Formats: sequence, structure tokens, C-alpha cells
Amino acid sequence: MQHAKKYEFNSAVLKAVESCAAGRRKADSVMEECFPTGCGFSRSAAEAVLLQWLRNRMLIDAAVFSLCKKNPKKNALNVLRAAAADAMSSEGTKFAQVVHNWVGFSKTKISGNESGFVNAVLRKLPDAVEKLRRSSGSAESLAIKYSHPQWLVEKWTKQFGAEKTLEILECSQTPSEVFFRVSPFPQASKLFSDYAVCFSKTEFENFFKLKGGFWSRAKELLKSRFFYVQDPSTYFAPLQFSPMPGSYLDLCAAPGGKSRAIADLILKNGSAEKSKNSLLVGVDLPERAGQLAENFSKIDFMKAEVAECDILDGESLSETLSSKNLPLEYDGVFVDAPCSNTGVLRRRPDARYRISENDIAACAKKQLEILETAKKFVKPGGKLEYSTCSIEKEENSEVVHRFLSKNKNFSLISENILLPKYENDGAGYALIQRDV
Ligand SMILES: C[S@@+](CC[C@H](N)C(=O)[O-])C[C@H]1O[C@@H](n2cnc3c(N)ncnc32)[C@H](O)[C@@H]1O
Repeated sequence: MQHAKKYEFNSAVLKAVESCAAGRRKADSVMEECFPTGCGFSRSAAEAVLLQWLRNRMLIDAAVFSLCKKNPKKNALNVLRAAAADAMSSEGTKFAQVVHNWVGFSKTKISGNESGFVNAVLRKLPDAVEKLRRSSGSAESLAIKYSHPQWLVEKWTKQFGAEKTLEILECSQTPSEVFFRVSPFPQASKLFSDYAVCFSKTEFENFFKLKGGFWSRAKELLKSRFFYVQDPSTYFAPLQFSPMPGSYLDLCAAPGGKSRAIADLILKNGSAEKSKNSLLVGVDLPERAGQLAENFSKIDFMKAEVAECDILDGESLSETLSSKNLPLEYDGVFVDAPCSNTGVLRRRPDARYRISENDIAACAKKQLEILETAKKFVKPGGKLEYSTCSIEKEENSEVVHRFLSKNKNFSLISENILLPKYENDGAGYALIQRDV
């Protein structure tokens, strides 16, 4: 009982590591299950260890295996993974304490012999990790060093070159920051000034980076309708869309970050009076509509409607819009398509182990189908914005050009891929226009 209490943190972290190692589970749901509210340890510390492990999963395994004559048993391997991630988060003298703690835990969890083995491996682990980190730049060694699938490293090197690939990999290993976007209302800047101490500026207008330790204060801002937690990369497609007062259909809208950006841009680009008569319709699957409706309820400076349907289900979208007396043609249609997420891997360090090359092809197929549906709702002369948080050409340029080759009455205005950097995630976006 005493042990159970003393090692509650270790047990929970180990359970989370086992859960992620066993399958393709999402880290968010594993953390919710293993680190529940009211648990007797620091949830944020446990989450930090799990994320550290996910970010360095291949590196840790390679270092552990390099120190073992034969493959460790599953239980011992998972203890080593969890302990290594915890140790990697700590420095100097704390490292010895962390190792001591995990060795103590392993005595309660696995056999005495194995805990001796855990102890021996953990103490040599920093040198083994360092050796792998110093290894030269073949795709295989980069894949291990940065814990990314080798096929992805090879793919990026082909697409972006060695230098850019290295930058992407390095960014992916940096824990992501939290950014707040401030809406273009005079009241927003006034309210924000009371909280300015919580943030530092970024190179992106209206985006502010939350400083460590200020979340509980800064989250007060989210009760108002002027602030949204959003990465700067999510703003590029709405900016390119550049909506003026008018009618807009946002397909794949949930949870609503880009819808909100579109609404704010309509307000910024037109007067408050003209914006009032604008219409923004957000569409997503029924199971995502609740969250979308909650965010749309804050867009009270124009007509904002939520429609729930599967847009790939035959005439479902036309029928849903008609049943709500909403237009069937819009000045602009925005498509933020589901994708492989390769531009946001630092935000979701578990995602890199779940995606495969086949998933990229499957996403591209679905994305083209969504664009084919979207085109039916664009007015003559209207705009069609295509956006993803993938940096793969197969999901961006290739989808757009396949669409254009089938639809000669649409032309490309501009297309871009934004690579992940320290102050932004990656994204792909293209502006297409329907002929008059
Ligand atoms: C990248 S997310 C959208 C993020 C959103 N635009 C934002 O900024 O908050 C893609 C969305 O596409 C939706 N989606 C995927 N397939 C769909 C379908 N067949 N019909 C409607 N929505 C779909 C998903 O439910 C998901 O919410």
C-alpha cells in the first residue's frame, strides 16, 4: 500500500507508456485515462514525461538496445522507456535521483534481477543517447536521432532538401508553445492590455505567445469573444482567402478556429455595419457540431450558422443547407480538409508513429473528393480556399492541380506550403477562383 502511494506517479507513467507502445492510440486519450483529474500526482509532470518519451521514442529504444546483449523483456523495456524519458527531462544531480526512484519502483514491479539490469542500463543511457545524437546524417541515423519514421525523413529530404528537413526535424522535437490570437475589436486590445504581462510578442500580427506559468490567469481571456488559442500557421489560409463582407461557407469547420479567423477578417476588411449583414456557415460532421456551435455562438457580429452533415454523403450538404433556408451558392467556400497532420507533428508527437505512406495517399483521395463537393457551392467569380495542416505535396499541390485539371472553369490564384518553424506550425494552402 505504501509502495502504491509512493510510486503512484511511476505506475501511471508506465501504464501510459505501455498503452502507447502497444498500439496506435492517441496520446490525449491515453493521458486522460492514465492521469485523471484528482490523481495524487502532478498531471502536468506526468504528461511532460509521456510527451518526452513520444518525442524521443526511437532514440531511447535504440540507446537501450545498444546497451543490451539480448532484447529486454517487455516489462523491463517499458520501465526503461518511462524512466529514460523522465531522466532526459531532468539534469545534473536530479538525474541520479530520478534513476534511483525508477530503480526503486522497478523492484516493486519486476524481479530483483531485472531491476539490477534497469539500474545498469539507466546509468549508461546518457552516454548511449549522446553517441546516437552525434551520429552523422544518413536518413536512418536522422530518423533515430529525431525519432521520426525513416520513410518520412527520406520523403522530406526528397521534397525539401537536407537542410530544410533538418530544420523541420529540429522543430518537431521542440515542445510547442501556446499562442493567443486577438480579434480586431477595440475592446479586445483594451482587455488584452490588462493581461499583456502573460505574453510575449511574436513576428505575427495579433498573435501572442503565452509565457510559462501564466495559463491560469490568461485563460480568463477565453471567456470573452475576443481571444482564441490558435497557432499562427492557422491564420495564413484565412489571410490568403481575404474575405470581404459577403457570404461564406466553411466546410470541415470544427472546432472553428479558422471560421473565427474568417469572421474576424470580414470585420477587419469591411465596416462593422457591412459585416453585420455577412453570413458565415460552418459545416462539420454531427459528432463535431457541438463544439463548433459553441465557438460559433461567439461570432455575434454577423449571421453565423452551423450545419451538421457528412459532406461526402451524396446530396447531403445541399439538402442540409436547403432545410435551414441557407444559400446554395457563396462568395467564398473555405475547405480545411482532414489531412495527415505532418505540419503539426510537434504538437502531436504521437501522430508521427501512426501515419504511413498509405495514409497520405488515402488523405489525398478524400481531399480531392471534398474539393469536388465544395466547388458546387462557389458562385461564379467566387473564391475557393483549400487548406491543410500537412506539408506534403501529395496533399496540397497535387490535389489542387488534379482538381484544376478536371475543372477548367476554376483557376489557381496562389499556392503555398509553410514549413514548421519555432514560432509556427506547418501548413499548406491554395486560393482558387471560379470563372465569372
Ligand atoms: C482539419 S480539421 C478542421 C479544423 C477547423 N477548420 C478549425 O480551424 O478549427 C478537419 C475537419 O474535417 C471534418 N470532416 C472530415 N470528413 C468530413 C466529412 N465527410 N463531412 C464533414 N466534415 C468532415 C472533421 O470532422 C474535422 O473537424
